[in-house]
Amino acid sequence: MSLQLSRRAVMRGMVSTAVSLAFAPSAFALHGPPAGKIALRFNENPYGPSARALKAAEEALGMGAYYPTDIVGDLMGAIAEKNKIGLDNMVLSSGSNEALQAAFVAWGKKGKVLLPELTYTDHLAYSRRMGVELVTIPLGEDMAIDLDKMSAAVDDSISLVYICNPNNPTGMALDGDALRDFCRSVGKKAVVLIDEAYNELTDKPEYTSMIDLVREEENVVVMRTFSKIFGMAGLRVGYGMARPDLAETIAGHVMAWPNGPGMAAAHASYQDSEFIRFSRAKVIEGRNMVNATFRRNGIEPLPSQTNFVYADIGRNATEFQKRMDERDILIRGSFEGYPNYSRVSMGKIEDLEAFDRVFTEVYNS
Ligand SMILES: Cc1ncc(COP(=O)(O)O)c(C=O)c1O
Repeated sequence: MSLQLSRRAVMRGMVSTAVSLAFAPSAFALHGPPAGKIALRFNENPYGPSARALKAAEEALGMGAYYPTDIVGDLMGAIAEKNKIGLDNMVLSSGSNEALQAAFVAWGKKGKVLLPELTYTDHLAYSRRMGVELVTIPLGEDMAIDLDKMSAAVDDSISLVYICNPNNPTGMALDGDALRDFCRSVGKKAVVLIDEAYNELTDKPEYTSMIDLVREEENVVVMRTFSKIFGMAGLRVGYGMARPDLAETIAGHVMAWPNGPGMAAAHASYQDSEFIRFSRAKVIEGRNMVNATFRRNGIEPLPSQTNFVYADIGRNATEFQKRMDERDILIRGSFEGYPNYSRVSMGKIEDLEAFDRVFTEVYNS
């Protein structure tokens, strides 16, 4: 399978039959990094799922004959309790991408969606195909989302504003109170959707989160996922939190509820504070290592509060990605409009030691 395939192409089953047949070692292949490769490309977290999550998923698998009913309430109840919200403030989805798409399509029928020019994109192609019109605003010179420019662009034609905080691929977080002010004022004109996929990895998760605005019934949706700190990207569980009318609008457009083993794993790991602490510590340790690799090579990375690091490497990032691929390290190539910026996701500590060695050799050869 080509290493240049995007996650989007892989997940949507767009790999041609010819390609899969040619490379499939048997009738069935486990997902995960290709054999012999170190995958630092999709912002996954190889420290998950937690042992408790695995046990819960296995038990749920044994009950796979039945529709997963009770676990929906159990999982929503646990999330609602922790965030001091009601069950009617919540919507579950098959990965947060599904709920993001649902929200874009729901409000995209009523107007345009405003978003930063460089941000998470996996939900955008689907939204466009469903007729949603997107309006993008350039980042500031410091690569941060420019809240003033975004706010100034909200007129009567905008129905939804999407902000990813921290942003992907920059990894940079907006100041919590600055974003709070933005949400309160912009929320008078349009729904503000805050994608908090990486919130648990930020320096100040509570301060950085807009969940308090959900509790205050502002016009705000907060989206979260079990794919990052919980290391469950393959189990596909995400959720949104919002005022009941907003949560209901999203739920009405969600097409795929999460699967039973995924929800059981999410329920177990959500309450596993020891694993959450461990996972966060490992990601931060890894992030420090990747930052150090860049700096040792004279590169200043952007200040990341996520499980990936984005840096201007002073040369074409897609070309560089190919050279790293040849040495079995898979990283991201260029994002549109930013040819020289490279994104590296966290792997296990030993993977990042290998990254350090290979990056330094390839970069200096
Ligand atoms: C900012 C952001 N939001 C949402 C997602 C989607 O995550 P999932 O659909 O796995 O929950 C990702 C995945 O990389 C992301 O980076």
